[in-house]
Amino acid sequence: MARVLVTGGAGFIGSNLTDRLLAEGHEVAVVDDLSTGRLANLDDARSRPDAPLTFHEIDITSPDVVAVVADTRPEVILHLAAQIDVRRSVADPIHDAMVNVVGTVNLLEAARRHGVGKVVMTTSGGCIYGEPGPADLPIAEDYPGHPHSQYGASKRGVEEYFYAYSALYGLRWTSLALANVYGPRQDPGGEAGVVSIFGGRMLQGLPLTVYGDGEQSRDFVFVTDVVDAVVAAIDRGDGVRCNIGTGETTSVNQLFASLAELTGYEREAQYAPERPGELRQIALDTRLAGAELGWKPRTSLREGLARTVDWLRD
Ligand SMILES: NC(=O)c1ccc[n+]([C@@H]2O[C@H](COP(=O)([O-])OP(=O)(O)OC[C@H]3O[C@@H](n4cnc5c(N)ncnc54)[C@H](O)[C@@H]3O)[C@@H](O)[C@H]2O)c1
Repeated sequence: MARVLVTGGAGFIGSNLTDRLLAEGHEVAVVDDLSTGRLANLDDARSRPDAPLTFHEIDITSPDVVAVVADTRPEVILHLAAQIDVRRSVADPIHDAMVNVVGTVNLLEAARRHGVGKVVMTTSGGCIYGEPGPADLPIAEDYPGHPHSQYGASKRGVEEYFYAYSALYGLRWTSLALANVYGPRQDPGGEAGVVSIFGGRMLQGLPLTVYGDGEQSRDFVFVTDVVDAVVAAIDRGDGVRCNIGTGETTSVNQLFASLAELTGYEREAQYAPERPGELRQIALDTRLAGAELGWKPRTSLREGLARTVDWLRD
């Protein structure tokens, strides 16, 4: 049992993580500015009688973060708060860097000043390695590619601060490079919102657009598997970045077909021109996560999609 501070805890992954931490008996302080997260995502957690949970509506770039860390004295910080929208990062790179770089450094300063032992951060396995060729897949952590978006750059660049804080102050850290995460509570506007967008529209019988030929493919990993990895990183995987995905690729057309079957959707997809800058293919090699964290994905795509559709139905 530990005192844990979760940034971004009202978001998709953060709220699933908060539920798990409380179920395992940890004491949790959530910091979130509710810019994309929703307090309703924490309804289950907040409705547990005597749950050791506090919520702090704070921007991670503000000095108030230091006060929360001073008050709650976490042993570990699980840092998920971020500007996660790739297109927004291209349109407004200053905002992206403010949240993802300056916000993270603000948190590291708070951690250093108040004796936090470890910080775990989530980064983007889809954006920090650039655009690998098909022969390079699945991508390992040492792949030499560089980001093709400001979001990828902010997420990759800020990792260097973790090395510096470790060298200067002995702060322990792990970075988890997530593939395309999907599951209950995902906002259809998010980075990998394709599952919730498709599922939600299919359940309502609405038309659906696929951009490009639908053969672009992604590595879809279920949110509870990602939560397993974050929890494992509380005690393990110091000083490394680990990819968290399945190593398998699923095309948008395959995803469409699986979701259509699960939702009883009978319309055909409508195809529109490919969107510029979209990755053709990505899959992550997760062997390091196996060795460092004792982690592997447990949920098949079929099961994860079924659980997501059930949630969308509710
Ligand atoms: N969803 C994915 O497929 C995916 C893939 C790779 C990496 N990630 C990473 O996982 C983390 C969580 O992403 P998510 O999918 O749950 O997104 P999300 O938008 O649901 O969660 C992010 C949370 O951070 C909060 N937040 C944003 N800016 C903030 C700020 N300045 N101060 C305080 N809180 C702030 C938001 O309100 C939200 O609750 C992010 O770090 C993201 O980069 C997600």
